[in-house]
Amino acid sequence: APSGYKVDIAARTPPYAKLVARLAEVRRVLGASRPLTLAEKILYSHLERPEESLLSGTNNGKDIRGKANLKLKPDRVAMQDASAQMALLQFMSCGLPSTAVPASIHCDHMIVGEKGADTDLPNSIAGNKEVFDFLESAAKKYGIEFWPPGAGIIHQSVLENYSAPGLMMLGTDSHTPNAGGLGAIAIGVGGADAVDALVDAPWELKAPKVLGVRLEGELSGWASPKDVILSLAGQLTVRGGTGYIIEYFGPGVESLSCTGMATMANMGAEVGATTSLFPFSPSHIPYLEATHRGPIAQAALKVASAPMLSNLLRADPEAQYDKVITINLSTLEPHINGPFTPDLSTPLSKFKSVVEEKKWPTTFGAGLIGSCTNSSYQDMTRSEDIVKQAEAAGLKPKADFFITPGSEQIRATLDRDSTLSTFSAAGGTVLANACGPCIGQWTRTDGPAKGESNAIFTSYNRNFPGRNDGNRATMNFLASPELITAMSYTGSTTFNPMTDSIPTPSGTPFRFTPPKGSDLPSQGFAQGNVEFLPTPGIPDPSVSVVVDPHSTRLALLEPFSPFPQSELKGLRILYKVQGQCTTDTISAAGPWLKYKGHLPNISANTLIGAVNAETGEVNTAYDLDGTTSSIPDLAQRWRDSGVEWIVVAEHNYGEGSAREHAALQPRYLGGRIILAKSFARIHETNLKKQGVVPLTFAKEADYDVLRACDDVETRGLLDVLLSGGKGDVELVVKGRDGRETVVKTRHTLSEDQCGFVLAGSALNLLAAQGRE
Ligand code: F3S
Repeated sequence: APSGYKVDIAARTPPYAKLVARLAEVRRVLGASRPLTLAEKILYSHLERPEESLLSGTNNGKDIRGKANLKLKPDRVAMQDASAQMALLQFMSCGLPSTAVPASIHCDHMIVGEKGADTDLPNSIAGNKEVFDFLESAAKKYGIEFWPPGAGIIHQSVLENYSAPGLMMLGTDSHTPNAGGLGAIAIGVGGADAVDALVDAPWELKAPKVLGVRLEGELSGWASPKDVILSLAGQLTVRGGTGYIIEYFGPGVESLSCTGMATMANMGAEVGATTSLFPFSPSHIPYLEATHRGPIAQAALKVASAPMLSNLLRADPEAQYDKVITINLSTLEPHINGPFTPDLSTPLSKFKSVVEEKKWPTTFGAGLIGSCTNSSYQDMTRSEDIVKQAEAAGLKPKADFFITPGSEQIRATLDRDSTLSTFSAAGGTVLANACGPCIGQWTRTDGPAKGESNAIFTSYNRNFPGRNDGNRATMNFLASPELITAMSYTGSTTFNPMTDSIPTPSGTPFRFTPPKGSDLPSQGFAQGNVEFLPTPGIPDPSVSVVVDPHSTRLALLEPFSPFPQSELKGLRILYKVQGQCTTDTISAAGPWLKYKGHLPNISANTLIGAVNAETGEVNTAYDLDGTTSSIPDLAQRWRDSGVEWIVVAEHNYGEGSAREHAALQPRYLGGRIILAKSFARIHETNLKKQGVVPLTFAKEADYDVLRACDDVETRGLLDVLLSGGKGDVELVVKGRDGRETVVKTRHTLSEDQCGFVLAGSALNLLAAQGRE
């Protein structure tokens, strides 16, 4: 093992004594008779000052959910390699010697899947060496555990090592809620939010509502935990969980494996939920023990056996949910979701007729199982059972078959127990323990040309167009690994392994029996290659973090300038955006991902998807003299000549994701104000954190009178900022034709956020506070 590696159980055990004491304080503020959901117990016991948060913006604490502004102190942070770059660059500008809470970095997103782990991993390491070296040196310097490329996918490694009942953590990835399978509140955030936790500043969250999912009965046969969430996604749709924590409860929870619960929690992200959560359950104990964390299981057991009022790990019996959905596991059918959206859910028994009716392809080219969502011992042994049944009947898969283990621990265990050799002997390709095809890092060799309609089946979690192979016409259908494995033996999308048989070489028709597997390996987990163990989380100030000044992939951040001690004058409207403007429109992904650690380079994609409201053109901006250029080019030219700018937009500006680059880039290029009809909440917060002022029209019709290149002056903004958010802002707009309009606006700047804007960014403020 790397020198000094030792699992520090104490650092991985949630601070139960402190949390239970906080829970008592929460009870005192809210009244002992008020029943709490489990999500509320864990979340509120992580409040910095419970009384202040629970009474903020609420009717004396009566209507907290959806109203109160929670200031939280998470226990830990996890970051994946793509998003960790900007998180660390921001953390570094605060000048602190180490992180305030334990943290980990997982190198998984930048590794391709093509020929198999043995060639793909070294190739990917060579292609991203500079970035991996940066992450490793920063991790060593600041005391962050660094899991090298090949060690595993962030969510699987977190489940095996860090998640625990009652823990609260942030992760810079949208499927961070996977850790909720082991009873943690785990929330996906952008890098700037992770930095809040890393520097010990409170992290803010509007108190979520709680959606209760009551599970009854028990899964059997072909039905798996994946099918529970696939069917729930169909009921809730991709927006149905927005603003909610999904809290599972009821007798059905007891029968689920810990890893099965993680699969369900993982895909709560697909319905927009803040996170998903399971109560401390019987299967958590053997899972914690098998993953070398027996003392954490014992500590959790003790907390869970406390009397109800101080019981942190169970919901109160009378807990009230904002909505309840009941699912009977005993009657649940396997489901297949897709294409192109995870909420288009079809029960297996109807899938054939839907394929025929919708004219979807009747064959599929590849079946891909594993990933952060579904690579547990249970998933893989159930799939192995299917492969063995088919082998015995003399069958071989008709579709390409890929297996992505979620971590080195699970890979080595499956290797020892011959599961992987069973897959390989059947013609399967075992990919690296990394994201690979799940995040578009897939060099596909089975045929279809770009743009050609075709189908694949994956046990992953997302199926947006182009996500896996870059071909927007590829239909990705989501299903359980065991179902995909069985279907791969026919390569037919209309095959139902529960009812249909396959002709065999001997002529006798063969029918699968329902898969059987084991929740946990009987011989325990194997450790695997010690080179994949993490570096210890002990800061070493002697390490220097080197960023080559000529690098195209990484650039140190320069602090943004503070707000002037005056109103803003001489601003110019850069662009008037028409219609939808998502974080993808503002900061595109795909090939730009490689510049995530280089703000100047990635800024060249700023708003390149935006439609010009005056001409209908995309990414075409007009300068004062009528010449045209791309939006980022004009923004940069104006910034270089000392002109700051504003963007005018329509509804829900910044919808889509927490991508902080969508706020950082406009700020870097000289953006000061975004004036929109409305904002997506997370993006609005991100803008304020970077010192950009989001304003909304008091009268939407004013959108129509504004033009690109109009001159804008603020009136009242400085007073709003100095008074901690009181009052409104007017914009005095002068057109080049002499027209003058006063646009009344609204804002949602809180006192803290006014501080961010005045300092130039939240980071500037944190850095200044760190110096005090
Ligand atoms: Fe995310 Fe897939 Fe990796 S969901 S963490 S990209 S395996």
